[in-house]
Amino acid sequence: MSSNPTARKRGGGVPIPLIEILSMNYKLIQNIVLVLFLWRWTRKAYYQLKGRGIFGSTFDFYRYSRAWLYGAFFSLPGVKSKVQLRISEAKFKLEKKYVPSGPVVERHLELPKDGWGVDKVREELGKLHEMKHTMWEDGRVSGAVYHGGEELIKLQTEAFGMFTVSNPIHPDVFPAVRKMEAEVVAMVLALFNAPDGAAGASTSGGTESILMACLSARNKAYQERGVTEPEMIIPDTAHAAFLKAGEYFKIKVHLVSCPPPSYKVRISSVSALINPNTVILVGSAPNYPHGIIDDISALSRLAHKKRIPLHVDCCLGSFLVPYLAIAGFDTEPFDFKLKGVTSISCDTHKYGFAPKGNSTILYRDKKLREYQYFVTPNWPGGVYGSPSIAGSRPGALIAGCWASMMSTGEDGYISACHKIVGAAKIIEDAIRTHEDLSTDLHVIGRPLVSVVAFSSRTLDIYAVSDAMTAKGWHLNALQNPPAIHVAVTLPIVEVVEQLLGDLKEVLQDVNERDRKAVAEGKGKRSLASGDASALYGVAGSLPDKTIVKELAKAFLDTLYKA
Ligand SMILES: *Cc1c(COP(=O)(O)O)cnc(C)c1O
Ligand SMILES: *[C@@H]1O[C@H](CO)[C@@H](O)[C@H](O)[C@H]1NC(C)=O
Repeated sequence: MSSNPTARKRGGGVPIPLIEILSMNYKLIQNIVLVLFLWRWTRKAYYQLKGRGIFGSTFDFYRYSRAWLYGAFFSLPGVKSKVQLRISEAKFKLEKKYVPSGPVVERHLELPKDGWGVDKVREELGKLHEMKHTMWEDGRVSGAVYHGGEELIKLQTEAFGMFTVSNPIHPDVFPAVRKMEAEVVAMVLALFNAPDGAAGASTSGGTESILMACLSARNKAYQERGVTEPEMIIPDTAHAAFLKAGEYFKIKVHLVSCPPPSYKVRISSVSALINPNTVILVGSAPNYPHGIIDDISALSRLAHKKRIPLHVDCCLGSFLVPYLAIAGFDTEPFDFKLKGVTSISCDTHKYGFAPKGNSTILYRDKKLREYQYFVTPNWPGGVYGSPSIAGSRPGALIAGCWASMMSTGEDGYISACHKIVGAAKIIEDAIRTHEDLSTDLHVIGRPLVSVVAFSSRTLDIYAVSDAMTAKGWHLNALQNPPAIHVAVTLPIVEVVEQLLGDLKEVLQDVNERDRKAVAEGKGKRSLASGDASALYGVAGSLPDKTIVKELAKAFLDTLYKA
C-alpha cells in the first residue's frame, strides 16, 4: 500500500481509487476476523486452563485420546463383527428376560376386531397384575415404590376416578384441578422456606423439573447477558437428568469430582470452572448414587458472589430432607434460606408418596419461572402457552398428588422420616460395626437421608449385588467407584433385619467362592456372573463406552417389544 503514492495523498483531496478502498477494507475485515478468531480461542484456552489447570487439561486430553483409540480399535472390521456378535447375544438374553414368550402367553399386536367386554378386560388386567415380578410388596426393591400402603393406594385411586377426564390445560372446564395444582405447589414452596415472591410449577417427574431448571437458567443467561454458548457445572454424582438437559438444550456440562472421604462436590474445582458462559451451578440434597448432601452452603456463597443461579436437586430428598431436623436427625442447610439457592426440584412422587408422574420445580422469583414458559402468539390454533414440556396433562394425577399430601400431612411425613431415615441409619450402622459386614464392606461417605451406598475392598461388589438379586432383592449397582446402594422406602423399613441377614450370607458365599477360585488358580472376577457383573465388569472397565451404549440401547428397544 505504501508503495502507492495516492494513498499518502489522501488528505490532499485526490480521490482514492475504488479498488483500493475495497482492498483496504478487505484487509481490515480480514484482520478483524483474525483478531476475533484469536481472541475467541485465547479466551477458550484461558478458561480451559483456569478451569482444569495444566495437569487437568493434559489429563482430559489423554483420556479423550485413549477413548478415541479404543473406539477406533473396536471399529476395526474383525473386532467389530466379534463385538456385534456379543451384543446380539446380550440382546437375546435381555428379550428372554423381559419379554414373556411361549404357548401360554397371548400377545396382542393389533386392536381386537370387536372390543372386549368389561369382564374380559378385568380378567386380563387381573392376570397382568399377577405377572411374576421382584416383590416390591415385600420390601424387596430399593427405591422405586416409595409408599405402597393399601389405604393410600385406595385413596389415590378414588381421586383418579373423580378426575379421570380432567386436564389443567382447560382451567375453566376443570377449576378444581387448577386449584389443587396451585395448592400443591404452594405447599411445597412453604416446605422449602421459599421467600415472598417465590414461584413454582408442577411437572411429570424429577427429570422434567431438572430440565426446566436448566432451560430457565439457559434462557435467563441468553436474554440478560447474551450467552450463546451456555455451560453448566455439576457434581459428577448429580442425577443423569442434568446430562439430559445438557444434551437436549445444548448446554456444555462440566463434571466436578466428589472425592472421598466426604464424597461432596469439590468447591474449589467448581469455582475454577466458572466463566462468563456459566449459566447454572448444581448441588444435590442428597444425590442418587451415595445419598450425600453436597456442601450447599458453600455452593450458595459462590453462586451469590458470582451472580449465577444455583439449583439444588431435592428430587430424592423430597419430603424427607425438610423434616430431618424435626425428626431428630443430623442435617445440613439446603433450601431457600441460603440466599444463593435460586431453584429447587422436589419430587412429590418420591417421599411425597404421590402417584408416579409428579414433581415440582420451585424458583426464588417469578421471573425465573417465566424463563421456562413456552408461549407462541401466532399459532392458527390460537394463542398458545404452556408452563412446561407437556401440553395436555393428567388432572387425575393432580388429584392423586393433592389427596396424598393432604392425607399424609406434616405428622405423616415426620413419622415417615423417622421410620425411613431410622432404617437407613440401622443399615449404615450395621455395615460400619457388625463384624461379618464391616470386614468386607464400607459405607461411602456420611449419608444423612435415605440412601446408604457401600463398596468393598476385598470382594467384587457386583458379585455381591448379583448374589442379592438371586436372593430376590433388587439393590442398585453403581459405578465410578464400583458400589451398590439401598434407597430405603416404607416397604423396606419392615424388612431391614432380613436384608442385613441376607447380605451377611451373601458375603460368606462370595468369600467362599473367591477362596475356591484362588485355590484353583483362577481369577476372582472370572466367577462373577449376572447383570451387574456383566454390565460393569469387563465392558464397563473399557475406556470406550460404545459397547455399553449399544447394550443400553438394546435394553431400551426391548422395552417396546410386544
Ligand atoms: C429420582 C431422582 C431424580 C429424578 O428422577 P425422575 O425419575 O425423573 O423422577 C433426580 N435427582 C435425584 C437425586 C433422584 O434421585
Ligand atoms: C403432577 O402433579 C401436578 C400437580 O402438582 C399436575 O399439575 C400434573 O399434571 C401432574 N402430572 C403431570 C404428568 O404433569
